[in-house]
Amino acid sequence: MRRAVCPGSFDPVTNGHLDIIGRASRLFDEVIVGVLINHSKTGLFAIEERIDMLRQASATYGNVRVESFHGLLVDFCRAQGAAVVIKGLRAVSDFDYELQMAQMNIGLSGVETLFMPTNPLYSFLSSSLVKDVVKWGGDASSYVPDFVGERLVTRLRQN
Ligand code: PNS
Repeated sequence: MRRAVCPGSFDPVTNGHLDIIGRASRLFDEVIVGVLINHSKTGLFAIEERIDMLRQASATYGNVRVESFHGLLVDFCRAQGAAVVIKGLRAVSDFDYELQMAQMNIGLSGVETLFMPTNPLYSFLSSSLVKDVVKWGGDASSYVPDFVGERLVTRLRQN
């Protein structure tokens, strides 16, 4: 069984994430989406909410599972029996930090990282930008699934 992990914060999931998850699901027997529990950073959505949204958004892929993790990504990969991490690269600016992490991770445990070029439609997209657009009344409907957009509006425009 060839398994890959797609890790991230997913606060919330965007169409850019889903593009990478969907393409990875066609290359591997099973894809495990790993949602990082980061106690030092408060997100807009709780981990359970992020997982709910990811599960709903990836429900059409039969071989995608969504789990949370804390601590080292390589330990999560080992626990899941995954030898590969998949990362999307949006632009050259992503590369420096991603390369550092990939090299650290292979040094720590031998887990390989494969980089996938993001669909150019989403090369500028990030969860942070989407939150900002929605917060100030913009239309983010091209960048997140509809139900995620609705949850963003509810959460960000409460006041
Ligand atoms: O969506 P993000 O916030 O860019 O995802 C970053 C993530 C979760 C992939 C990265 O922070 C991570 O792997 N964290 C786990 C902790 C870890 O393993 N750190 C050492 C990396 S070399």
